[in-house]
Amino acid sequence: MYLDPDDEKILAGERGETRQRMMELLVALGKVFGAERLVGIKSAQVSGASYKTIGEYGLAWLSSLDARVVVPAVLNPIGMPRERWQEMGTDPEFAAKQQAVIAAYERLGVNLACTCTPYYLNTTCFGDHLAWSESSAVSYANSVIGARTNREGGPGALAAALIGKTPCYGLHLEKNRSPQVVIDIKSGDKNWSIARYGALGYHTGKLAGNKIPYFRGITPGSDQMKALGAAMAATGAVALYHIDNVTPEAKKTDYSLTGLEVISVEPAEIDRLFKKILVDAVAVGCPHCSSGELMEIARLLKGKTVTKPLYVFAAQGIIDKNRETVGSIERSGARVFADTCMVVSPVMEQYPAIMVNSGKALAYVPDMCGAIARIGSIEECVAVATS
Ligand code: F3S
Repeated sequence: MYLDPDDEKILAGERGETRQRMMELLVALGKVFGAERLVGIKSAQVSGASYKTIGEYGLAWLSSLDARVVVPAVLNPIGMPRERWQEMGTDPEFAAKQQAVIAAYERLGVNLACTCTPYYLNTTCFGDHLAWSESSAVSYANSVIGARTNREGGPGALAAALIGKTPCYGLHLEKNRSPQVVIDIKSGDKNWSIARYGALGYHTGKLAGNKIPYFRGITPGSDQMKALGAAMAATGAVALYHIDNVTPEAKKTDYSLTGLEVISVEPAEIDRLFKKILVDAVAVGCPHCSSGELMEIARLLKGKTVTKPLYVFAAQGIIDKNRETVGSIERSGARVFADTCMVVSPVMEQYPAIMVNSGKALAYVPDMCGAIARIGSIEECVAVATS
């Protein structure tokens, strides 16, 4: 793999031991995936942030690093809200470990926004090269924005943030971004809810596997695409999808679909995921809520009181921008938490059954929280939480 003179100096240890180790990691990744060179990145998004998922080994590794990031780098959700961890019921021992993880990232210069929706906080543009690691953020960046990122592991994304470059292979290359399977959605209803797009992603992720799907027959908005991509990345390994006449690359590029496998999806295949089971808590905001989603939740909760715990998750930056809306949601008894989510917070493990409006959470809650998961629209989630 070609390295420029500066890369070579880093590899030789002339910029410190941490950067040398990080360059070794990038070079090793590049060799495994056949990269010919490194490419400069605009930003990184770093997973491996919750103590629940990285444990003592991850904390020790992070603590051994000594350098500062050279591009904007945002941390993924952690296992608790930084400010309100006691209010959420986080175990103090866990909180102490989580704070040590946060301190380690802070020392490296990583932005502690702790969100899987970094695209709401920093400008990311069509064609930007990135090193993002949370799968729903990767899907959104590639598909909805038209930026270019592989699905990085946590250490790979952090190494890229500390060096400012990532190996140029996979989805960084135009030739690897063409559709590989066509998915036709047989439905006249174009006004599907965010949850229904999440369920569609849950279903089609299993069908697409690791191929790049090209959807026909749907016209989702950005929140719907966020839900679709997050779920496809959870049940499949889809890091990029195109939607006919909707996503930027599908609009700009005249893809040939000739010879591709065509899969038809009937509405009944999606309907059957909406099972009505009794739940103990409701959690929305996977991926973290947009401003529009917070406003919709506030509208639905107006004048109501929750009778079951209702958790809402969003980035701190989005909460700060929507203080009045968040206040209105919390007057119902619901709680809007930053920095964490229903999957990475151990607090959610106390509930045997959890209702969500997300196809990704539907896929992850059973394994990560040991709970039965039910999916419903945001209207249904609010109705269940307030009935
Ligand atoms: Fe984000 Fe947690 Fe869902 S990290 S995509 S809210 S599982």
